[in-house]
Amino acid sequence: MRVKIDREVVQRFEAGLDPRHPEKSLIPAQIIGYGEMSTIFVIKAPGQSDTAYKRMPVFRTLPEMEHYERIFQEYNTRLAEIGLNIPSFASVRVTSPEGLPVVYNAQSRLSEEAIANRLIHRLPDQPVKTLFLLVLNELHKVFAFNAAHTDIRYGIDGQISNWAVLHYREGVAIGPDTKLAYLDTSTPMIQKCGREQLDPELFLRSAPSFMVWIIRRLFLDGVMTRYYDFRLVVIDLIANFHKEQRPDLIPMLIETANDFFATKAAGLGVGSIDMRAVKAYYRQDAMIWRVYLGMRRFDRFLHRTLLRKPYRYILPGRIKR
Ligand SMILES: Nc1ncnc2c1ncn2[C@@H]1O[C@H](COP(=O)(O)OP(=O)(O)OP(=O)(O)O)[C@@H](O)[C@H]1O
Ligand SMILES: [Mg+2]
Repeated sequence: MRVKIDREVVQRFEAGLDPRHPEKSLIPAQIIGYGEMSTIFVIKAPGQSDTAYKRMPVFRTLPEMEHYERIFQEYNTRLAEIGLNIPSFASVRVTSPEGLPVVYNAQSRLSEEAIANRLIHRLPDQPVKTLFLLVLNELHKVFAFNAAHTDIRYGIDGQISNWAVLHYREGVAIGPDTKLAYLDTSTPMIQKCGREQLDPELFLRSAPSFMVWIIRRLFLDGVMTRYYDFRLVVIDLIANFHKEQRPDLIPMLIETANDFFATKAAGLGVGSIDMRAVKAYYRQDAMIWRVYLGMRRFDRFLHRTLLRKPYRYILPGRIKR
């Protein structure tokens, strides 16, 4: 299903955007979520309250943008075919005040209470375990597909903040029949005959050019490839409970994951996970994202002071880890 986008509203929003303070733009944005890379917001204009937007200002050429739009479309469609619930979506092109192309990805907006990283703070431990098992089930669909195909594989970021309970209502129990939606589809990771379709260089564009080499090393050695490895995706999901301020749940999550790998996912031969792997992973991962965001903030500072040029990106706010 597609969301309807009013291109004209988005174009006007872009024209009046203050990337540093999106909520103070000519048409204000209401920020509804942060990821490691981007900011999710609602455009505060009539008829817009049910649409969540992500702004992608990284494209330099038309073919580059067209390719991204194609694989974004393909990724959403194929994950849905594999059996994931994907919110209805669309993307639209507008032009920035400097004349550069910008893509806005839109998704139907889900209620804030339904986002899984909110739920893990409100639910007792047993339903959190059920929720985690539901996430493992969804991931299993993707990795079972990948195992059965050599020509095409999909990467997925399983972090708890990327899932939402469908049709969530306060007080309704989370059970084995609860349905989850997968939100984070704007990094469409698709490998065709072993070749990544998404250009990782796009993510380096918002960093200062003299630092790109170090970020390239951090990124290309691991950040994209990890999303094709079931075990690493689950380590990432578990380690992220540190960032989500629920490290107390980690031992239970490790046990649950290992049990899942040994039973339901036995056919995939996933190696077990232990606390040491989770801790080591988290230290490194937190460092990578801190460096990445730090560089981007520094670049924004350079633009404002030395370069005196507009800085085009909306950066995530402070992330508590
Ligand atoms: N359709 C939506 N409805 C409501 N909230 C959303 C929606 N999509 C995203 N969010 C909120 O924004 C947060 C970040 O979204 P998302 O995971 O898509 O971005 P991200 O992690 O920055 O992605 P990436 O880093 O891969 O670009 C989510 O955890 C959620 O809280
Ligand atoms: Mg995310």
